[in-house]
Amino acid sequence: MRLLLLPAATAALSAALDLPQGYAPVPVSCPPDLEWIRPAVGLSRGEADWVQGRKKVVLGALDGYLARLGLTDFDVPEYISRLNQSGQAHVPILGMAISGGGFASAFTGTGAMRALDDRVDAANEQRTGGLLQSLTYLSGLSGGSWPTMSFSANNFPTAEEIVDIWKPEIDRFLTVENTTAEAATVDDMFEQIVTKDLEGFDIGVGDFMGRGYAYEFVPGASGGLNTTFSSIRNLSKFVSHEMPMPIIHLSEVGTGDPEYDGLYVPRSNGTIFDVTPFEFGAWDGSVRAFTPVEWLGNRLSHGRPVNESVCYQGFDRDSFIIGSSANAFNFWYLEAVSNNTLGQFAKRSLRQPGPSKRSIPLVDLDGIADVFEEAVGLNLTQIASSSYPNPFANLSLSSGNAHSSASLSMVDGSETGQTIPFWGQIQPARNVDFILAWDDSQDAAPYGWISGANLYNTYLAANATGLPFPIIPPVSTLVNLNYTTHPVLFGCGANLTTTGDTRAPLVLYYANAPYSAYTNFTFWQSSTTREQMDEIFVNSFDIVTQGNGTWDAEWADCIGCAVVERSLAHVGMQRTAQCEQCFSRYCWDGQLDESEPAEMNSNLILDPSVGFLEWNATNPF
Ligand SMILES: *[C@@H]1O[C@H](CO)[C@@H](O)[C@H](O)[C@H]1NC(C)=O
Ligand SMILES: *[C@@H]1O[C@H](CO)[C@@H](O)[C@H](O)[C@H]1NC(C)=O
Ligand SMILES: *[C@@H]1O[C@H](CO)[C@@H](O)[C@H](O)[C@H]1NC(C)=O
Ligand SMILES: *[C@@H]1O[C@H](CO)[C@@H](O)[C@H](O)[C@H]1NC(C)=O
Ligand SMILES: *[C@@H]1O[C@H](CO)[C@@H](O)[C@H](O)[C@H]1NC(C)=O
Ligand SMILES: *[C@@H]1O[C@H](CO)[C@@H](O)[C@H](O)[C@H]1NC(C)=O
Ligand SMILES: *[C@@H]1O[C@H](CO)[C@@H](O)[C@H](O)[C@H]1NC(C)=O
Ligand SMILES: *[C@@H]1O[C@H](CO)[C@@H](O)[C@H](O)[C@H]1NC(C)=O
Ligand SMILES: *[C@@H]1O[C@H](CO)[C@@H](O)[C@H](O)[C@H]1NC(C)=O
Ligand SMILES: *[C@@H]1O[C@H](CO)[C@@H](O)[C@H](O)[C@H]1NC(C)=O
Ligand SMILES: *[C@@H]1O[C@H](CO)[C@@H](O)[C@H](O)[C@H]1NC(C)=O
Ligand SMILES: *[C@@H]1O[C@H](CO)[C@@H](O)[C@H](O)[C@H]1NC(C)=O
Repeated sequence: MRLLLLPAATAALSAALDLPQGYAPVPVSCPPDLEWIRPAVGLSRGEADWVQGRKKVVLGALDGYLARLGLTDFDVPEYISRLNQSGQAHVPILGMAISGGGFASAFTGTGAMRALDDRVDAANEQRTGGLLQSLTYLSGLSGGSWPTMSFSANNFPTAEEIVDIWKPEIDRFLTVENTTAEAATVDDMFEQIVTKDLEGFDIGVGDFMGRGYAYEFVPGASGGLNTTFSSIRNLSKFVSHEMPMPIIHLSEVGTGDPEYDGLYVPRSNGTIFDVTPFEFGAWDGSVRAFTPVEWLGNRLSHGRPVNESVCYQGFDRDSFIIGSSANAFNFWYLEAVSNNTLGQFAKRSLRQPGPSKRSIPLVDLDGIADVFEEAVGLNLTQIASSSYPNPFANLSLSSGNAHSSASLSMVDGSETGQTIPFWGQIQPARNVDFILAWDDSQDAAPYGWISGANLYNTYLAANATGLPFPIIPPVSTLVNLNYTTHPVLFGCGANLTTTGDTRAPLVLYYANAPYSAYTNFTFWQSSTTREQMDEIFVNSFDIVTQGNGTWDAEWADCIGCAVVERSLAHVGMQRTAQCEQCFSRYCWDGQLDESEPAEMNSNLILDPSVGFLEWNATNPF
């Protein structure tokens, strides 16, 4: 990226003094009876109640979705009636997870959501519509956190509506000359975040990047300057349980982790934090506790505010949450200074060393660092990660930095090597039955397609932690069996899960691939024309529906089989013969093919006569 203007640091500081404290957390009196910390056992009361309410609404959505399918020997009315008779207890809990991968993943993932939306006629015609309305959880990290946050914070519009809100053709980072309602200059964004520094909070690149992202993805005046994640709980479609609950992931990093050039890099077993409209915290690793998200920003010790006379609210700005989740400054920097040999970008771990067209030039990264140094006296180490006042200090439920430090250092949610945000959804407390994973991590070098490495990494991490998850074969097998170009189901049989039973969710894995358009534009392309967005949406639609059923007319029904699978035993029903056939076609059965895979570099899957050069001649995005 090429920042057009670098702010005059001292001017930013003085101008910030005149701004309304719209971004800075606001001092309030401390709540007297708050349960500041709860151990990570079960769900919070708020989430548990909300999920119960959501199940009633999902029941109706699922009924509509399943009824549109052509399931030949499955009794949909009987199934729905049995779910209803259970007091909705057995309504399956369905989730979708959108991977990191910058703007590419944000937009291809949005295209996938669109293909599952019962407000889109074509989706209902293809019988995939309504699955979106049946989801209880939607998780995202890094670029995938943008649609996850944006659909939620905008009260769940359609994809077409949200593109009008986003105005993706505007580049929020590179070409802004004047601050408007839709974009701000680098100077002005810097002034906005300096208000937080003046209130006594650490700021960093995550705050800054978050401002740029927020002008696109967060509703509210001045690029959603004031908008908080906890306020999603007040939106009408959240209150009426008509949207899924968003979960956003961050990775923790700090002293004790590998360090290069003053920058820390999380280990593959680094702690993954969950941020939801209810809570902030982690299920395992260095923290096994949660704190109410609206009270984030308060330093606690032994579960009590360190300063009992003043507490803060408004730290949980949407802007900062997505800024933190999509801030890999440590990796960007290490890639740039090491000729791509350091800063193993986990999500692109299969790439070769050497100069990468996907790296951000060092001069721009240095430019950002200089501004922080001059304006607020913070060095590279301090700004690279996002700083959260630590609520978990001195608890038996925390360890390492999270036990002893005044603040938590958070980096891009993908940095532990799991770019698909499964972790929050595979916690037994959430009881998720089925996860639709959308992978646009661009981890297959050199063309930015998908290798499946991140899916495999989640299996390794889940297995090591003892969490129920499908067994996933290594990358060579994933590629050789075409699971990175066509969808596949994992965990169908109990013997193909980490725990040898059916507690693991069934995973439907979709990788981004060129069906009708080449959607492997670099993760850092920061403006997108409406024409390209339309092509992205059609490509995702073609992936989700497998070319409107041209690959297999029964594909949509097979998705339905996977959706209901885990709940059947609870309501005393059997997998049907049609679903048996679907599973024999689409479930990975444990076979391996570990031969050296070919490079991911395909002609258009729906029109193999068209290669990239030919396509690029008429679609020069
Ligand atoms: C942010 O909220 C505060 C208090 O509610 C208000 O005074 C301020 O104008 C808001 N700023 C923006 C940019 O919306
Ligand atoms: C569930 O049962 C209730 C009470 O009998 C009924 O009003 C409702 O329509 C049923 N819901 C569905 C989706 O069948
Ligand atoms: C920005 O503002 C300046 C001064 O008002 C004006 O000359 C210029 O045309 C504006 N640029 C854009 C892109 O609107
Ligand atoms: C940045 O400052 C901190 C605190 O003074 C120090 O521990 C760290 O080593 C510094 N990092 C760099 C890269 O200078
Ligand atoms: C993570 O891995 C490191 C190094 O392999 C090890 O020292 C540490 O104990 C592990 N942490 C956890 C929580 O397992
Ligand atoms: C970077 O790596 C590539 C590939 O290994 C090598 O050809 C090139 O010389 C390296 N450049 C520098 C500046 O080290
Ligand atoms: C999965 O976990 C089991 C039990 O800890 C272990 O024996 C096995 O080696 C693990 N598998 C992989 C692929 O790591
Ligand atoms: C994978 O796709 C290629 C190209 O379409 C095909 O030749 C090959 O047979 C497929 N492999 C499997 C295991 O289906
Ligand atoms: C599938 O249907 C969608 C929506 O009507 C359309 O945009 C797309 O081009 C179709 N794809 C194929 C392969 O027919
Ligand atoms: C898993 O179990 C099924 C039947 O229950 C069997 O057909 C299959 O061979 C088993 N697979 C493995 C990898 O053990
Ligand atoms: C996109 O994919 C095509 C086909 O694999 C490849 O030719 C092209 O170079 C890729 N574009 C980028 C930006 O990597
Ligand atoms: C694709 O088209 C653009 C615009 O015409 C051009 O700049 C670019 O070099 C083309 N890419 C390739 C790999 O030919």
